[in-house]
Amino acid sequence: MEIIYVKDYDEMSEMGFQVIKEVIETKESPVVSLNTGGTPKGLYKYLVEAINQGLNINDTTILSLDEYIGPKDAVYTVKNYMHKRLIDLVNQKPKNIFLMDGDTQDTDEEIKRYKELLAKYPRDIQLLGLGTNAHLGANEPGTPFDTMMFLAQHHESTIQATMREYGIDREEAPTEMLTLGLKEIAEAKNVLLLASGKHKAQAVKNLVEGEITPDCPASILRDCKNATIIVDEEAASLLSKK
Ligand code: F6R
Repeated sequence: MEIIYVKDYDEMSEMGFQVIKEVIETKESPVVSLNTGGTPKGLYKYLVEAINQGLNINDTTILSLDEYIGPKDAVYTVKNYMHKRLIDLVNQKPKNIFLMDGDTQDTDEEIKRYKELLAKYPRDIQLLGLGTNAHLGANEPGTPFDTMMFLAQHHESTIQATMREYGIDREEAPTEMLTLGLKEIAEAKNVLLLASGKHKAQAVKNLVEGEITPDCPASILRDCKNATIIVDEEAASLLSKK
C-alpha cells in the first residue's frame, strides 16, 4: 500500500481526481467503480469540470461500490448522489452506468446480477472512503476479509453518519446496504482510498499502524500492492511516522 500525504481536503480531492483521470485517459475501455459520502464530493467537482472541458468518457463504464436498501428516490440513495454530483452535470454520456438496485424485492437476485457485471467489467479502479470505525463500503468491523458482495447491516455509528450527511431522522435512515465485499474491493486493479479530517485520524492510524484484522476492515489494504491511500494532515495527525 502506498500512502500519499497532502495538506487538506482540496489537495486530496485534486490528487484523487488526477488518479481517476489517468485511468480514464490511459485505459482502452476504462472501468471505474465509484463511492459516495462526504469525502469524494470535491473529487467529483474536479471530474465534472474536466469532463465538461473535454475529458472523454465515451468508453468509460461506471460501477458502484454499494447502494442503500430503500426507495429509489430516497434522498440518501447512491443513485441520487451519482446523478446529482456527476451524471446529470456532465455534457457527455459514459459508455455504461451500472448502479445497484436497492429498491429490489429480491436482494439475492440483485447480488447475482451485479456479480455478473463485475465479472464482465473488471474494475480498473475502485474508489473508497473510510468510515470512522474503518469500514469500507458497508463492510463493518468484524466482516471477514474473504467476504464477497452481500447485504450488510450498518453499525449504529454508520447510521448516525448517514443521518448527519443527509439531514434525515432515525426512522428514515437506511440500516442495510448492498455492498461489494472486502475480497472484491481488494481485487480491483487499483484501489484508491481518500481520507480527510480529524474525525478520520483514529481510523487512519488503525489502518496504517494497527493490527491487520477484520476488526479494522480497512487494514485489508495494508498488504495490497494495488492500494493507494491519500490522507490529509488532519487525517494523518495520529500517525507516529510520516
Ligand atoms: C459510501 C461508502 C462509505 C463511505 C464512508 C465514509 O459509498 O462507501 O463506506 O465511504 O462511510 O463516509 P464519508 O465520506 O461521508 O465520511
